[in-house]
Amino acid sequence: MRVVPAEPVLAIAGATGAVGREFLRLIEEGKLPYGDLKLLASRKSVGREIQVAGTTYLVEELCENSFDGVDLALFSCGGELSRRLVPEATKRGCVVVDNSSAFRMEDHVPLVVPEVNPETLWDEEGLLRSQVIANPNCSTILLVLALAPLSEVFGLKRVVVSTYQAASGAGAKAMEALLSDLGSGVDAAGKFRGKAWEGAFAHPLAGNLIPQIDRFLGGGVTKEEWKMVVEARKILEQPELRMDVSCVRVPILRSHSEAVSVETEQSVTPDQARQLFGRSAGLLVVDQPEELMYPMPLQATGLLEVLVGRIRESGVFSPGLSFFLSGDQLLKGAAWNAVQIAALLCGEGSAGSQ
Ligand SMILES: NC(=O)c1ccc[n+]([C@@H]2O[C@H](COP(=O)([O-])OP(=O)(O)OC[C@H]3O[C@@H](n4cnc5c(N)ncnc54)[C@H](OP(=O)(O)O)[C@@H]3O)[C@@H](O)[C@H]2O)c1
Repeated sequence: MRVVPAEPVLAIAGATGAVGREFLRLIEEGKLPYGDLKLLASRKSVGREIQVAGTTYLVEELCENSFDGVDLALFSCGGELSRRLVPEATKRGCVVVDNSSAFRMEDHVPLVVPEVNPETLWDEEGLLRSQVIANPNCSTILLVLALAPLSEVFGLKRVVVSTYQAASGAGAKAMEALLSDLGSGVDAAGKFRGKAWEGAFAHPLAGNLIPQIDRFLGGGVTKEEWKMVVEARKILEQPELRMDVSCVRVPILRSHSEAVSVETEQSVTPDQARQLFGRSAGLLVVDQPEELMYPMPLQATGLLEVLVGRIRESGVFSPGLSFFLSGDQLLKGAAWNAVQIAALLCGEGSAGSQ
C-alpha cells in the first residue's frame, strides 16, 4: 500500500547541513522522485539559493508551519529540533523519516535499515505502523548490515566493536574545522597549530584520536556506544545480545570504519562468511589481503554500499570471526538509508500487502 504520494511534496529539514547536502545530491541523482521541494534550515540560511536538478530553491526557516501541505519530511537537524517539530509535522499529516536519536528507542517507532528489517514499517494489516520512522545511528547502520546475515545463518552470541569515526559525523562545521587545522602546519613538538577544533571537539583532532563521541553516561560508557548497543539489539530483535563497543573519533573527513569480532552460535569459517556477505544486500566484500585490498574509508567514500573485509577466525571467540568494515556514514549511515526508507513509503508494496 502506498502511504505517501509517488511524487510527494518533500521537505528537507536541515538542508544546508552535512547530511542535508547528501539528501540533495541523492535527489538530484533521481533516487527519490518528488512533486515539489521545500528546503528548511536555521534563520541564518534563510534566502540562500540552492540549485537542485536545474531549479533554484530559496532556503526557508524551519518552523511549526513549515509542514503545511508537505507529504514527506526528511529531518536532519539534531534531536532537540526533531523533538519539537516532528510532532508539528505529523499533526499536519506529514510522514517523517528522522535522522536524530529523538525517537529511535520508542517502542512504536520503527528503526529501519531497509536491507535488514523493512517489514517493521508495516503492521499486521499492511498499514504504516507509525507516522515517524527513525533512521538508526550511522555506526549502527554500518554494523547491522554485517551482523544481520551472520545472526540469521549462524546465530550471534557476543559482539565486540571498535569504531573509527570521521569528523563529518559531527556535522559540516566539524569537517571544516578539521580541514582548517590539518592545513595549519605543525609546531616544533609536532602538534598542529590550528585552533579551529575548539568550536567542534573537546580536544584537537588533527594528529590525534578522541576516544569519546557524545557525552559520558554512567559506567564510563558514552552515549554513542550506548546507542550502538540498544539500537543494534532493537533492529536485530535480540534484546539480550551481549555487546562491547568503543567509539573513537579519528582525523579523517568522511566515512566511518569498524573493527568487529563476533561469537556465533554455530561454527562458521571465514570462507562461509565471505560468501554470505557477498550475497547480502548493502555489503561489498573487499578481502584480498595478498593484493593489499581491504576496506578503507577513502575507498568507501561516495559509495552506497558498506565495504567488508579482513575476514578471519577470531583469536578469542570460538566459534567466531573478526572482520573490518568501512562505509560512507553520510550516505548509507544517514541520507541514503533515509532515502531508501522514503522510497519504500512512496512505493506500492508493503510487507503486509505482498
Ligand atoms: N553527520 C553524520 O554523519 C550523521 C549521521 C547520521 C545522523 N546524523 C544526524 O543528522 C542530524 C544532522 O547532522 P549533520 O551532521 O548534517 O549536522 P550539521 O552539518 O551541523 O547540519 C545541521 C543542519 O540543521 C540546521 N539547523 C541547525 N540549527 C537549526 C535551527 N535552530 N533551526 C533550524 N535549522 C537548524 C542547520 O542549518 P544552518 O546551516 O542554517 O545552521 C543545518 O542544515 C543530526 O541529528 C545528526 O545526529 C548525522
